Amino acid sequence: MATPEIIARLRAATGAAHARLEAALDLVERVADAGERRRLVAGFLALHEGAEARLAPWLAPHAGLEPGTRLRASLIRADLALLGGAVETDAPQAPEVGSLGRALGWLYVLEGSTLGGRTIHRALETRGLDARGLGFLNPYGEAAGARWRAFVAELDRLHRTGEADRDEIVAGGVDGFEHASKVLCGA
Ligand code: HEM
Repeated sequence: MATPEIIARLRAATGAAHARLEAALDLVERVADAGERRRLVAGFLALHEGAEARLAPWLAPHAGLEPGTRLRASLIRADLALLGGAVETDAPQAPEVGSLGRALGWLYVLEGSTLGGRTIHRALETRGLDARGLGFLNPYGEAAGARWRAFVAELDRLHRTGEADRDEIVAGGVDGFEHASKVLCGA
């Protein structure tokens, strides 16, 4: 599949933010410590819970996005329970979304993290670390590639039909990374 224009634009607009977040998160180091692992997963829960509340009304009418099986807060809650349950976080509230385009940009950020999740699981294995409480990082297992391609195809379709505005989608991706960075890294 050739890279759709909307994905190329999202990558151009958010690639640097992704690299900064990945470096600042220092995930594989942090999850080696049980307390840090629990705090990190609590951060992911705050990110997904907050974002999903904003996104759900925009995504619900679009069955092609498969929102029912993409939104992961409940999975993260179950993972956090394995690590001892909720901890206080002072995560800022997710901003208003305001358009389908913006919601899609945010969903790009949340779904894209399932690609990195597979790399993270492999890195844990290499270091001899278990993945307890981190299943949500790799929610689709072997189907990860297919689920990503299905999301990209639907995002591309909604962009090409004009149902979702290009600049709004890109702005949603930028907002999503900015918010993820605040919630997960406090910066
Ligand atoms: C330590 C943490 C992370 C690592 C090591 C990591 C690594 C990666 C890798 C290797 C890919 C590319 C996979 C491929 O091309 O097959 C990827 C894609 C992506 N990741 Fe991350 N990631 C991390 C955290 C995150 C987080 C926290 C988010 C968002 C909340 C995120 C969002 C994305 C997005 C949107 C893409 C898709 C980019 C695209 O193909 O257009 N990542 N990540």
